[in-house]
Amino acid sequence: MKAVVLVGGEGTRLRPLTYHTVKAMVPILDRPFLEYLLRHLVDHNVDEIILAMGYKPDSIKRYFTRTHSFLPKLVYSIEPEPLGTAGAVKYAEQHLDDTFFVLNGDVFTTVNLTAMLRFHKESGAKITIAVTPVEDPTRFGVIETDCQLRIKRFIEKPRRDQVTTNNINAGIYILEREVLEHIPSGKRVMFEHDVFPKLLSAGEPLYAYPIDAYWIDIGTLENYRQLNCDLLTGKCPYPGSETATLRVPNDCLVHPQARFHGPVLVGEKCKIGYGVQIIGPTVIGAGCQIEDCAIIEKSILWQRVTVGKNAVLKDCIVASNSYIVDSSGLEGVVVTPEHRTP
Ligand code: GTP
Repeated sequence: MKAVVLVGGEGTRLRPLTYHTVKAMVPILDRPFLEYLLRHLVDHNVDEIILAMGYKPDSIKRYFTRTHSFLPKLVYSIEPEPLGTAGAVKYAEQHLDDTFFVLNGDVFTTVNLTAMLRFHKESGAKITIAVTPVEDPTRFGVIETDCQLRIKRFIEKPRRDQVTTNNINAGIYILEREVLEHIPSGKRVMFEHDVFPKLLSAGEPLYAYPIDAYWIDIGTLENYRQLNCDLLTGKCPYPGSETATLRVPNDCLVHPQARFHGPVLVGEKCKIGYGVQIIGPTVIGAGCQIEDCAIIEKSILWQRVTVGKNAVLKDCIVASNSYIVDSSGLEGVVVTPEHRTP
């Protein structure tokens, strides 16, 4: 079974973090987000993964060229310009056969893909779309089905009085190859707005598969924080994730007078000084240096961040290579080496 993972978007909603880091590579517990997604596919017997990329492919290629031992066959399909979700899959057509998965490269889920595939085969669907419930469906496109889960209608941003379901498209699909015949080549085409509604009105069998598992779209700063926090606290029980109260690798230099109040995850080769307090859920990425008496609470530090003496950080996200000067007081901000945004 093959899967196409869409990693070509600009990630505008995650700015400023995505000015230098593509959305798929933002770290979750100090590992690139995309690695979790690919591991999940491998766990469900996907043996060839096509990364459909349009935007800044180099960092992704570099990382997975180094870290590929867990991967089966990995193919890079690089669009000359962003072709949209469906256009990108069409562009990768030469690599695809019979039935395949398509995943948005910004969803984190523990959905049972094997069970979803079984459902797809049994229902005779041409397209199966995973759906997940949200509290306020008026901001999304919702998917209405009959009691056999056959899709009846797509409703874009329904008014409150139009809401009949709170199930939205979860960005995970199973497609039969013939769907590709309905996608024009070399054009920007979106599954959500162009392909799915067109096939539905042509009477093709489209089914919804309700996700009964953890699911989050990491495309916003709020959700990005939430996922890190859910993994650290164990709210999202992800196999292989480190949910221990405190994890500090042996190669870190931690002053005996530093204090941790879990859950806290520290990456490799960090230096943590005298009197430092780290209050979880917090992630300190590899190579960070936390100087004396700094306090870091409920924050996510990427790699090689320096936090100066007596600085206090609360609810912050700090991108790699940033420098926080001594005695700063920061709350609820995103810091990159060049920017600080509330
Ligand atoms: P925002 O700019 O913040 O909306 O992010 P986005 O464009 O990255 O995400 P969006 O939710 O619109 O797209 C869903 C998924 O499809 C994401 O994983 C994107 O990376 C991916 N995607 C969107 N457009 C393209 C494209 O033109 N080519 C490819 N290969 N992937 C795309």
